[in-house]
Amino acid sequence: MTKRLEILMPDDWHLHLRDGEMLKVVTPISARYFARAIIMPNLVPPVTTLRDAEAYRQRILAALPAQPDFQPLMTLYLTEDTKAQEVEKAHLSGIVKAVKLYPAGATTNSQSGVRDFDKIIPVLEKMAELEMPLCVHGEVSDHDVDIFDREAVFIEQVLEPLRVQVPMLKVVLEHVTTADGIDYIRRGGDNIAGTITTHHLIINRNHILAGGIRPHYYCLPVAKRERHRLALVQAATSGEKQFFLGTDSAPHIDAAKLSPCGCAGIFTALNTMGCLAHVFEEADALPNLEYFTSRNGPNFYNLPLNSRTIVLEKSENPLALPATIKTPIGQVTVFDPGFNQHWYVA
Ligand code: DOR
Ligand code: ZN
Repeated sequence: MTKRLEILMPDDWHLHLRDGEMLKVVTPISARYFARAIIMPNLVPPVTTLRDAEAYRQRILAALPAQPDFQPLMTLYLTEDTKAQEVEKAHLSGIVKAVKLYPAGATTNSQSGVRDFDKIIPVLEKMAELEMPLCVHGEVSDHDVDIFDREAVFIEQVLEPLRVQVPMLKVVLEHVTTADGIDYIRRGGDNIAGTITTHHLIINRNHILAGGIRPHYYCLPVAKRERHRLALVQAATSGEKQFFLGTDSAPHIDAAKLSPCGCAGIFTALNTMGCLAHVFEEADALPNLEYFTSRNGPNFYNLPLNSRTIVLEKSENPLALPATIKTPIGQVTVFDPGFNQHWYVA
């Protein structure tokens, strides 16, 4: 008998749609599987004002069919110059749902991010008052900190002191990659949650580096040891309310990935739901998939649950999924989970 699972329509709480030709290709793909997505603002130049966010939202909606039922939830890119007043205006508009903190230099297009965290305290205080979440790329960017330690060091040296200063601030520690991050969120009370990506539930650092270097598995934060991956799987599949899906699907054309200095980012929007069903089934936790993809996120953001549902089915034979997608600026490689995929969205 075909295995079948009907769940509330998922949301993606961390997504890169890019801009221009790339946006036109990848936006309809996410819209097929997700009702809403938190849209990352790391464009060049970044989305720092309500005006930028409104214009970007219009470009996203223009990439969708005439009756779009996909809602882009916009974010502002926090800089040292961001004004509390701008954030308040953005919040009141209803289209901007969060503010994104990139430590300067931590990842793709983070040059305009924050170096001196004291400078953002007034904005964070305003956000706490508005109950507007801060989405955090949780890595330090200091050259003397080992890349595999950057998340744990960020939590200790930056995040915890910020949260002590602004205890009422709602924080999403994004794309958690370590057991340290999972423990921190579990101990952190109701104002902190964590997103977990599809790929970090599936790959560890050996997938990137053992037996040849695999640039398509390179992202930031970089995947860690197997024990950390197991902690992520345990957290995601537990159903606990503070963990939910943020794919961090981050398309780069192959020419940018396969280069002497390749870009960080993995494109997972296309096969995320099938990959997740596989991971949850292996963990004997399929009933908790809906909490991870469709319930915990909106509850943390104080948004209604989706009313539509999707059906996942498991085929007898492995699926033939595209290895790449074409865009007018070059092809993008689709995440290869390294196992045969049987689950698909019916
Ligand atoms: O791997 C990543 N890619 N991590 C990020 O934080 C940014 C993203 C991108 O924009 O390419
Ligand atoms: Zn990201």
